[in-house]
Amino acid sequence: MSAMTTSVRPDAPAGVRRPTAPAPAGFEPVILVFTCNWCSYRAADLAGTARIKYPPNVRLVRLMCSGRVDPTFVLRAFADGADGVVMTGCWPADCHYRLQNVKALRRFMLLSRVLTDLGIEPARFQRVYASAAEGQQLAAAFTRITEEVRALGPLDWGGRNAAPLPSGRVSAAPPRPPAAPDPAASPPTPTPPTSTPVAPDPASAEVTA
Ligand code: FES
Repeated sequence: MSAMTTSVRPDAPAGVRRPTAPAPAGFEPVILVFTCNWCSYRAADLAGTARIKYPPNVRLVRLMCSGRVDPTFVLRAFADGADGVVMTGCWPADCHYRLQNVKALRRFMLLSRVLTDLGIEPARFQRVYASAAEGQQLAAAFTRITEEVRALGPLDWGGRNAAPLPSGRVSAAPPRPPAAPDPAASPPTPTPPTSTPVAPDPASAEVTA
Protein backbone atom coordinates (compact mmCIF):
# COMPACT_ATOMS: atom_id res chain seq x y z
CA MET A 1 0.00 0.00 0.00
CA SER A 2 1.31 3.44 -0.83
CA ALA A 3 2.15 6.15 1.68
CA MET A 4 -0.82 8.16 0.44
CA THR A 5 -3.29 5.59 1.70
CA THR A 6 -1.61 4.67 4.99
CA SER A 7 -1.80 8.07 6.63
CA VAL A 8 -3.95 7.37 9.69
CA ARG A 9 -5.24 9.83 12.20
CA PRO A 10 -5.08 8.30 15.68
CA ASP A 11 -8.41 9.78 16.73
CA ALA A 12 -10.39 8.45 13.74
CA PRO A 13 -13.09 5.94 14.75
CA ALA A 14 -12.62 2.35 13.67
CA GLY A 15 -14.15 1.51 10.31
CA VAL A 16 -13.85 5.03 8.94
CA ARG A 17 -11.69 5.51 5.87
CA ARG A 18 -8.88 7.78 6.95
CA PRO A 19 -8.03 10.99 5.16
CA THR A 20 -4.64 11.31 3.58
CA ALA A 21 -4.06 14.63 5.31
CA PRO A 22 -5.01 15.69 8.85
CA ALA A 23 -8.05 17.89 9.28
CA PRO A 24 -7.19 21.55 9.88
CA ALA A 25 -7.12 22.58 13.50
CA GLY A 26 -10.51 23.65 14.75
CA PHE A 27 -12.31 22.07 11.81
CA GLU A 28 -16.04 21.71 12.49
CA PRO A 29 -18.01 19.72 9.94
CA VAL A 30 -21.38 20.76 8.58
CA ILE A 31 -23.83 17.87 8.78
CA LEU A 32 -27.05 18.28 6.81
CA VAL A 33 -29.85 16.06 8.10
CA PHE A 34 -33.04 15.41 6.13
CA THR A 35 -35.80 14.63 8.61
CA CYS A 36 -39.29 13.23 8.27
CA ASN A 37 -42.00 15.45 9.70
CA TRP A 38 -43.73 12.61 11.52
CA CYS A 39 -40.89 10.74 13.22
CA SER A 40 -37.30 11.90 13.08
CA TYR A 41 -38.10 15.61 13.19
CA ARG A 42 -40.29 14.98 16.25
CA ALA A 43 -37.47 12.95 17.76
CA ALA A 44 -35.03 15.82 17.25
CA ASP A 45 -37.63 18.14 18.74
CA LEU A 46 -38.01 15.80 21.70
CA ALA A 47 -34.26 15.82 22.19
CA GLY A 48 -34.39 19.60 22.35
CA THR A 49 -37.27 19.80 24.81
CA ALA A 50 -35.70 17.06 26.98
CA ARG A 51 -32.41 18.99 26.93
CA ILE A 52 -30.55 16.09 25.36
CA LYS A 53 -27.51 17.59 23.72
CA TYR A 54 -26.27 16.92 20.23
CA PRO A 55 -23.61 18.82 18.27
CA PRO A 56 -24.54 22.19 16.76
CA ASN A 57 -22.89 21.00 13.54
CA VAL A 58 -26.21 19.35 12.64
CA ARG A 59 -28.55 21.33 10.38
CA LEU A 60 -32.05 19.92 10.06
CA VAL A 61 -34.11 20.05 6.88
CA ARG A 62 -37.71 19.00 7.51
CA LEU A 63 -39.53 17.12 4.79
CA MET A 64 -42.88 15.36 4.98
CA CYS A 65 -41.32 11.93 4.48
CA SER A 66 -37.91 10.42 3.84
CA GLY A 67 -39.36 9.35 0.48
CA ARG A 68 -39.22 13.03 -0.49
CA VAL A 69 -35.42 13.01 -0.47
CA ASP A 70 -34.35 13.30 -4.06
CA PRO A 71 -30.78 12.21 -4.91
CA THR A 72 -30.15 15.68 -6.29
CA PHE A 73 -30.79 17.11 -2.79
CA VAL A 74 -27.87 15.08 -1.48
CA LEU A 75 -25.55 15.88 -4.36
CA ARG A 76 -26.40 19.55 -4.08
CA ALA A 77 -25.74 19.49 -0.33
CA PHE A 78 -22.26 18.05 -0.82
CA ALA A 79 -21.50 20.41 -3.70
CA ASP A 80 -22.66 23.41 -1.64
CA GLY A 81 -20.44 22.67 1.33
CA ALA A 82 -21.89 19.93 3.53
CA ASP A 83 -19.24 17.59 4.94
CA GLY A 84 -21.82 14.94 5.78
CA VAL A 85 -25.44 14.21 4.86
CA VAL A 86 -27.88 12.07 6.84
CA MET A 87 -31.24 10.70 5.73
CA THR A 88 -33.52 10.07 8.70
CA GLY A 89 -37.07 8.78 8.79
CA CYS A 90 -39.63 6.45 10.30
CA TRP A 91 -38.91 2.80 10.88
CA PRO A 92 -39.82 0.69 7.83
CA ALA A 93 -43.33 -0.33 8.95
CA ASP A 94 -44.22 3.10 10.33
CA CYS A 95 -44.06 5.36 7.28
CA HIS A 96 -47.16 7.56 7.06
CA TYR A 97 -47.02 7.22 3.29
CA ARG A 98 -46.95 3.42 3.25
CA LEU A 99 -43.85 2.25 1.39
CA GLN A 100 -42.14 5.57 0.74
CA ASN A 101 -39.36 4.98 3.26
CA VAL A 102 -38.69 1.58 1.69
CA LYS A 103 -38.27 3.37 -1.63
CA ALA A 104 -36.06 5.90 0.15
CA LEU A 105 -33.91 3.05 1.45
CA ARG A 106 -33.46 1.71 -2.07
CA ARG A 107 -32.54 5.18 -3.26
CA PHE A 108 -30.11 5.57 -0.35
CA MET A 109 -28.31 2.31 -1.17
CA LEU A 110 -27.98 3.19 -4.84
CA LEU A 111 -26.80 6.72 -4.09
CA SER A 112 -24.29 5.42 -1.53
CA ARG A 113 -22.62 3.35 -4.23
CA VAL A 114 -22.54 6.28 -6.62
CA LEU A 115 -21.04 8.58 -3.98
CA THR A 116 -18.40 5.99 -3.08
CA ASP A 117 -17.47 5.76 -6.76
CA LEU A 118 -17.18 9.55 -6.79
CA GLY A 119 -14.69 9.38 -3.91
CA ILE A 120 -16.95 10.31 -1.01
CA GLU A 121 -16.38 8.16 2.06
CA PRO A 122 -19.41 6.09 3.18
CA ALA A 123 -19.30 7.67 6.64
CA ARG A 124 -20.24 10.99 5.08
CA PHE A 125 -23.61 9.71 3.89
CA GLN A 126 -25.63 7.75 6.42
CA ARG A 127 -29.18 6.69 7.15
CA VAL A 128 -30.80 6.69 10.59
CA TYR A 129 -34.24 5.48 11.66
CA ALA A 130 -35.95 7.15 14.60
CA SER A 131 -39.49 7.15 15.90
CA ALA A 132 -40.93 10.25 17.50
CA ALA A 133 -40.06 8.86 20.94
CA GLU A 134 -36.40 8.17 20.15
CA GLY A 135 -34.91 11.57 20.82
CA GLN A 136 -32.09 10.11 22.88
CA GLN A 137 -31.12 7.59 20.19
CA LEU A 138 -31.26 10.23 17.46
CA ALA A 139 -29.07 12.62 19.45
CA ALA A 140 -26.57 9.80 20.01
CA ALA A 141 -26.54 9.05 16.27
CA PHE A 142 -25.96 12.73 15.46
CA THR A 143 -23.05 12.83 17.91
CA ARG A 144 -21.49 9.66 16.47
CA ILE A 145 -21.83 10.82 12.85
CA THR A 146 -20.40 14.25 13.65
CA GLU A 147 -17.35 12.65 15.25
CA GLU A 148 -16.84 10.35 12.28
CA VAL A 149 -17.06 13.19 9.77
CA ARG A 150 -14.85 15.43 11.90
CA ALA A 151 -12.20 12.69 11.85
CA LEU A 152 -12.43 12.50 8.05
CA GLY A 153 -11.77 16.21 7.64
CA PRO A 154 -13.35 18.69 5.24
CA LEU A 155 -14.84 17.32 2.06
CA ASP A 156 -14.43 20.37 -0.20
CA TRP A 157 -16.29 18.57 -2.97
CA GLY A 158 -17.37 21.81 -4.60
CA GLY A 159 -13.83 23.24 -4.46
CA ARG A 160 -14.95 26.04 -2.14
CA ASN A 161 -11.61 25.97 -0.31
CA ALA A 162 -9.57 26.10 -3.52
CA ALA A 163 -7.35 29.13 -4.07
CA PRO A 164 -9.11 31.72 -6.23
CA LEU A 165 -7.93 32.32 -9.75
CA PRO A 166 -6.00 35.56 -10.39
CA SER A 167 -9.04 37.04 -12.06
CA GLY A 168 -11.06 36.35 -8.93
CA ARG A 169 -13.31 33.87 -10.72
CA VAL A 170 -13.77 30.42 -9.28
CA SER A 171 -13.53 28.80 -12.68
CA ALA A 172 -13.27 30.02 -16.20
CA ALA A 173 -13.67 28.25 -19.49
CA PRO A 174 -10.77 28.84 -21.95
CA PRO A 175 -11.70 31.25 -24.74
CA ARG A 176 -12.72 29.62 -27.96
CA PRO A 177 -10.26 30.07 -30.89
CA PRO A 178 -11.74 31.78 -33.93
CA ALA A 179 -13.09 29.35 -36.49
CA ALA A 180 -10.58 28.65 -39.31
CA PRO A 181 -11.90 29.10 -42.86
CA ASP A 182 -12.79 25.82 -44.51
CA PRO A 183 -10.60 25.38 -47.66
CA ALA A 184 -13.06 22.88 -49.11
CA ALA A 185 -15.88 25.36 -48.93
CA SER A 186 -16.69 27.14 -52.22
CA PRO A 187 -16.30 30.95 -52.25
CA PRO A 188 -19.49 32.82 -51.68
CA THR A 189 -21.36 33.64 -54.87
CA PRO A 190 -22.49 37.25 -55.21
CA THR A 191 -26.21 37.57 -54.86
CA PRO A 192 -27.98 39.44 -57.67
CA PRO A 193 -29.86 42.62 -56.76
CA THR A 194 -33.44 41.87 -55.94
CA SER A 195 -34.84 45.00 -57.64
CA THR A 196 -34.02 46.68 -60.97
CA PRO A 197 -32.85 50.33 -60.88
CA VAL A 198 -35.62 52.83 -61.69
CA ALA A 199 -34.90 55.46 -64.37
CA PRO A 200 -35.35 59.09 -63.21
CA ASP A 201 -38.68 60.67 -64.13
CA PRO A 202 -38.00 63.50 -66.67
CA ALA A 203 -41.16 65.32 -65.61
CA SER A 204 -40.09 65.53 -61.99
CA ALA A 205 -36.66 66.78 -63.14
CA GLU A 206 -38.33 69.72 -64.96
CA VAL A 207 -40.32 70.70 -61.88
CA THR A 208 -37.26 70.85 -59.71
CA ALA A 209 -35.13 72.77 -62.29
FE1 FES B 1 -41.71 9.22 8.00
FE2 FES B 1 -42.40 8.37 5.54
S1 FES B 1 -43.60 9.45 6.95
S2 FES B 1 -40.49 8.21 6.55
